[in-house]
Amino acid sequence: MSLIKRIKTYVTGSSQTSEKKLAVIRSNNKDTFTAFGPQSPPPEISERDIEILQDSWKIVQQNVAEVGIITFVGLFETHPEVHDAFMSYRGVNTSDLEYNAILRKHALRVMGTVDKCIYRVDNRDKLRELMTELGIRHKNYSVKMEFIDLMGPQFISSIKPHLETMWTDEHEKAWENLFKLMCYHMKKGMCSI
Ligand code: HEM
Repeated sequence: MSLIKRIKTYVTGSSQTSEKKLAVIRSNNKDTFTAFGPQSPPPEISERDIEILQDSWKIVQQNVAEVGIITFVGLFETHPEVHDAFMSYRGVNTSDLEYNAILRKHALRVMGTVDKCIYRVDNRDKLRELMTELGIRHKNYSVKMEFIDLMGPQFISSIKPHLETMWTDEHEKAWENLFKLMCYHMKKGMCSI
């Protein structure tokens, strides 16, 4: 069984049941990387976006670990080069157990960052500082700038099943806008060194 299949089994109890979720991820997988202009103004987030983000985040938070892992497994499946870059930072001789722990830890850190941004969205200077510094650290981890933009669409595909009954185009837009803003500052940090 491949490592990714093992993780799916570990997360969902079966390598089969997660296929449904991953199918959602695959069908929504659009590569959104566009040339980054550090001089361009930061993307906008409206008051309505903030309201939607804070409401829906309360629900997503109940499944934070699962959403985080499903996001990464989906990202690694659709973009194996991201998987290779992630693992090459950690070294190749990693046991399954360590691999699961590393993946889980990073997934939870990404979710922790989303949480901080949602609660800092009213304080744009704090959000900018947080994400710019994170971008600088990712540059030091040798992460390519184009990988950063892949996270948002994958994350949105992973939360949708948890918000199925309330999901609207407005939700899609609000989450897209949040990730655009987070990634904008991260990439700006990456460009700054
Ligand atoms: C929105 C996107 C992302 C967020 C919010 C995020 C967040 C984080 C956070 C909070 C850390 C903990 C260490 C620190 O604060 O410096 C971290 C570490 C790391 N991230 Fe990311 N990350 C993102 C995307 C990526 C991507 C696409 C890769 C792909 C290779 C990646 C690779 C790494 C590596 C190698 C580390 C250091 C090792 C580790 O802590 O496991 N990150 N990330």
